[in-house]
Amino acid sequence: MMPGHDKRPHRRRWTSSCIRSPVQEVHAPRIWPSDVVRFYTRGNHQRPTADNAAQNRDVPMPSTTDSPTGEPLHRRRPQRLKVQNFFVSQDGVAAGEDQTLERPFGHVDPGPLTQWAGATDSWPNRTDPGGSRGVDDHIVRDFTHNIGAEIMGSHKFSPFRGPWTSEDWKGWWGDDPPFRTPVFVLTHHLRPSFSLSDTTFHFLDASPSEALRIAMDAAQGKDVRLGGGVTTVLEFLEAGLVEDLHIAVAPHDIGSGLRLWTSPTDFEDRFHHESVLSPSGMEHHFFWR
Ligand SMILES: NC(=O)c1ccc[n+]([C@@H]2O[C@H](COP(=O)([O-])OP(=O)(O)OC[C@H]3O[C@@H](n4cnc5c(N)ncnc54)[C@H](OP(=O)(O)O)[C@@H]3O)[C@@H](O)[C@H]2O)c1
Repeated sequence: MMPGHDKRPHRRRWTSSCIRSPVQEVHAPRIWPSDVVRFYTRGNHQRPTADNAAQNRDVPMPSTTDSPTGEPLHRRRPQRLKVQNFFVSQDGVAAGEDQTLERPFGHVDPGPLTQWAGATDSWPNRTDPGGSRGVDDHIVRDFTHNIGAEIMGSHKFSPFRGPWTSEDWKGWWGDDPPFRTPVFVLTHHLRPSFSLSDTTFHFLDASPSEALRIAMDAAQGKDVRLGGGVTTVLEFLEAGLVEDLHIAVAPHDIGSGLRLWTSPTDFEDRFHHESVLSPSGMEHHFFWR
């Protein structure tokens, strides 16, 4: 067992912990009474009863330009680089070695690491009703929230190595990739950009900070997702560029493979840290700075 990493999967239920390094302070914004009144008088929180239905029709939905200055709300805070829904085994393995066309995760079976997401109501590929609507669902639902671009490594994009011998490969995701934003694939082997449905893939040979600058520009004020794989996440962490991480830890070990960490405590020197154990058995770890 890694020091500080309790491996018992069901040690806590619905609890959270917050561990802060001494140099970090949480800055709580001051909430003015007028903000509270404004929030609760918007009308959108009201139940659509017969009495208020007509009234609600005239209440504007929250708007991205609803700030006192008319400035879009998402521009009122700096853009962030986020890792979302990144799954690892209890011993920190995020992917297997020996990736092939048939096995995008190499020797690791991604099923047990991802089934929590597939079981939710918000899972994009869900065709039948009845998915879970608890904490896992909230996390899956948040995946696209305020994301304007993604950065990924070339092995997340493709199983091929070295210079492209053909440009037929368009990623693992079919004709309708789930990103719906510009996606910047980091690679030493460039090729022309292309679009599939609402997603455009661009190929970049750039340092992490340069790639982030380009992706932030493309995201037009929204946040940028760092989509993996393991090498790329570690590279951006090493460069100090990641601001939020959500890591979903499965309750079993894999043993060997590409490892994100030895224990969640590895990141506590740089990030605030909270975790919550879902009834699915996944322990969700949130890091931010
Ligand atoms: N657990 C999860 O949630 C999760 C999420 C996403 C992906 N994955 C899995 O992770 C595995 C891929 O991870 P990985 O660590 O092998 O590879 P990766 O991070 O996807 O890609 C690494 C490669 O990207 C290119 N690259 C990265 N930074 C670069 C830079 N600054 N400039 C130019 N090129 C750069 C290099 O490839 P070249 O030199 O070949 O161009 C490098 O070898 C796959 O099995 C994938 O399915 C897991």
